[in-house]
Amino acid sequence: MIKVGFYQFCPIFGDVRANLQKIAQAIENTKADILVLPELCTTGYLFTSHEEVHELSEPIPGPTTLFLENVTRRKHMWLVLGMAERDESSQKFYNSAVLIGPDGLKGVYRKAHLFLEEKLYFAPGDTPFRVYDLGIARVGMLVCFDHFFPEATRALALQGAQILCHPSNLVLPGKGQQITRVRAMENRIFWVLANRYGTEERHGKKLTYTGASQIIAPDGEVLAQAPPDGESLQIVEISPAQADDKHVTAMNDLFQDRRPELYKAL
Ligand code: ACM
Repeated sequence: MIKVGFYQFCPIFGDVRANLQKIAQAIENTKADILVLPELCTTGYLFTSHEEVHELSEPIPGPTTLFLENVTRRKHMWLVLGMAERDESSQKFYNSAVLIGPDGLKGVYRKAHLFLEEKLYFAPGDTPFRVYDLGIARVGMLVCFDHFFPEATRALALQGAQILCHPSNLVLPGKGQQITRVRAMENRIFWVLANRYGTEERHGKKLTYTGASQIIAPDGEVLAQAPPDGESLQIVEISPAQADDKHVTAMNDLFQDRRPELYKAL
């Protein structure tokens, strides 16, 4: 059994230092093997200019990942979080998720399906969907709106992902919580949705985030759920190997019963 969890909080826009302190403080008194944090949780979400993205984004590895590596090494745990990435060689910006563990930075995933005005400020991801074997579990990463595209989850599940780590800033009430529950069920995997809460209001734009972070079992059962508003850190014990059994009935293995030869668009 391993302990997996989410930390739902309300990042302060533009104050990376304060957000990192808050994360470190929350982790300090927490015993988890894998903890998932929200999308863009070190910077805030509601960017309104290219200058802001340039100023607040960072290379990976960079100061934020180095700071968090110290935490994960000391606590001997894994963290998945969303952050704004600046790729120095191409000067492109990505809405990324990073995986950091007891031995440091393990992986980066760049959000493939950009939502709304993210398209103005970030480049669509170019990292293939990839599963990481942590020894204690095999994990895949998606960022927020990616959950609307069943192919993304399926690509990770077919590679053997047992736990889907999903940093998010959901804004469509109820939708993401329902969809991720279905994605977990249809792929028979665990799902850790780490959403943020609160409202951001900047330069005439306003977004309210829906909270309600959740941990879902492969059969769709809700193992933990946060309130729509307010801070929440929740951890549950799971057995990742449960996600290796794809049976929904004695005669139906969801992966063996697939018919990919019939799925091609005409
Ligand atoms: C989203 O992708 N942040 C809704």
